Amino acid sequence: MGVCRFDEVTSTNDVAADMARLGAPHGFCVVAESQIAGRGRRGAKWFSPKGEGLYMSVIIKRDFELLPVAAAVALSNAVCALSGVMAYIKWPNDVTINKKKVAGVLIERFSTGDRGSFAVMGVGVNVNARSFPAELSATSIALERGEEADKEELRKLFLRELKRVSDGKRRSGLLEDYRDKCVSIGEKIIIEIDNARTEAVALGVMDDGRLIVETPHGKRTLTSGRALIG
Ligand code: BTN
Repeated sequence: MGVCRFDEVTSTNDVAADMARLGAPHGFCVVAESQIAGRGRRGAKWFSPKGEGLYMSVIIKRDFELLPVAAAVALSNAVCALSGVMAYIKWPNDVTINKKKVAGVLIERFSTGDRGSFAVMGVGVNVNARSFPAELSATSIALERGEEADKEELRKLFLRELKRVSDGKRRSGLLEDYRDKCVSIGEKIIIEIDNARTEAVALGVMDDGRLIVETPHGKRTLTSGRALIG
């Protein structure tokens, strides 16, 4: 699959969205050494120091409802293979090692009017960073395995895993793999309901990837766009 590399961009998601509009095909990848406006879910910034992380975006032009689930499983498998350490999933698609965040996924959907829609799947992985801003509870593959890792190897591993777990024959096992690796179940989380924050306990993951939570107002289900803190 095609890949376009940049030294510095605002956000690889922005570049990939522009390329998708101009006709770049499904699966095309944009990779950058650094981002000056890398972003995460819910308006967070994504720490993107030069050369120290994998910052990539993949153009998605095919419908796949479980894409966020597949991305999380593929990314945790790829991080685990390269680090040699077990990597877990924090709902919806953060990847953690020893309770610290090592990678995240930002899926953005775009409409192109008459020509339908497409999505951009942005993947950020802390590969060789050795220190992080104090407010982040983060780690990197290098810190966990004790030596630097190859970003390009990780990119290829991730794409291979994504293809494998999204394959028609494997889809029934996808949610099982996700639930096995998901450390959010049973955890207390803070959610937003009607612009107010409230404490909830995560009970499980539905077959469409939504999170079931117990709140003081009863059971609710959350989509990834309505997720939370903690
Ligand atoms: C998150 O965990 O909040 C998602 C982080 C996603 C970061 C990646 S880095 C490559 C791509 N470009 C961005 O601006 N964000 C994603």
